[in-house]
Amino acid sequence: MSWGIRRNFINCMERLILTSFNMYSFMYKKDFKYFKEHYDESIEKMFAAVSDLYAQYWHDFFHFALFDKKKQSWRSAFKRTHKRYLQDLKVKTAKNVLELACGRGRFTYIIAKNTKGNVLGIDISKSQLSHTKRFKRKNLRFKHHDIMKVDELNEKFDAVIFLDAACYLPDKEKALQKISKVMNSGARLLILDWCKAERLNALQEELVLYPFMRYWAIPSLETRKNYEKYFKKSGFKILKIMDMNIKVKKDWEFGYENALKALKKLSVNDLPKFIWKRMKLGSEGLRLIKEQFPAAIYIKVGYDIGFLRYVYFLVEKE
Ligand SMILES: C[S@@+](CC[C@H](N)C(=O)[O-])C[C@H]1O[C@@H](n2cnc3c(N)ncnc32)[C@H](O)[C@@H]1O
Repeated sequence: MSWGIRRNFINCMERLILTSFNMYSFMYKKDFKYFKEHYDESIEKMFAAVSDLYAQYWHDFFHFALFDKKKQSWRSAFKRTHKRYLQDLKVKTAKNVLELACGRGRFTYIIAKNTKGNVLGIDISKSQLSHTKRFKRKNLRFKHHDIMKVDELNEKFDAVIFLDAACYLPDKEKALQKISKVMNSGARLLILDWCKAERLNALQEELVLYPFMRYWAIPSLETRKNYEKYFKKSGFKILKIMDMNIKVKKDWEFGYENALKALKKLSVNDLPKFIWKRMKLGSEGLRLIKEQFPAAIYIKVGYDIGFLRYVYFLVEKE
């Protein structure tokens, strides 16, 4: 093959590869636009499909435990994590506490047990909220409410907590402005969120982050620096920001290993279960359940390669 023909061939191949990447990127971006514009509907469908699956293979709460030691048990890691969050938020002395995206309500219940103040948990998913009926206390309430409309609650809070859910919001900056409006001066806000690493290039984002974002109905991921900007613009003083990746390694391994275990166990005997889910949740619901397997694999890659960061933000309303 002459040099000219070879060069042409290489050019063609390059163009073909780039075009197919663009096609991929275009498909993903279309999905993310949909998640942003229809986040309420997407989240409702997503958690109706996965709430029980996660509770079975993960925990009753869907946030991560921070591990201090290699050989620490799950129970002790969750206990210490929760204790730390309650202390950081000064929950004991708060008159009104809000948990944003409270999910199945177990942590909201723990908050209520640790304060004399009133505690409210809000979530957009009716399926998640249906599990909060188990938790009854005088100072505890749950409400079906969208974080993007949190200012319409017409209540003010001294402590606000938001675990493992901000990534689902269609507009993080706008949400922070609204959260700021419902907080008293001096009130604390604690957010744990999945962020993307700074300065990733488009191809790295597309190959590693986009697939699981698509499986999990996440419209966008923020960087830690962007969050810092949003906090300042929304009237918050930053108290502490920490990258927690090193402390959540065991959480990812657990999720990944459980996904593999579930896959290995799959057999024809599971067919009736899938048919039942198909009847209950429709074909889209069943698709969402099935997609949790590739999601678990992709997200582990995102963590192992360091593109995905679990970040702790503690801020105070000025
Ligand atoms: C990964 S789960 C975390 C739940 C809970 N924080 C926990 O740790 O168990 C994410 C939760 O965010 C909720 N969510 C997502 N977008 C929301 C929104 N706009 N308003 C209220 N809740 C939302 C979902 O319904 C879901 O319960």
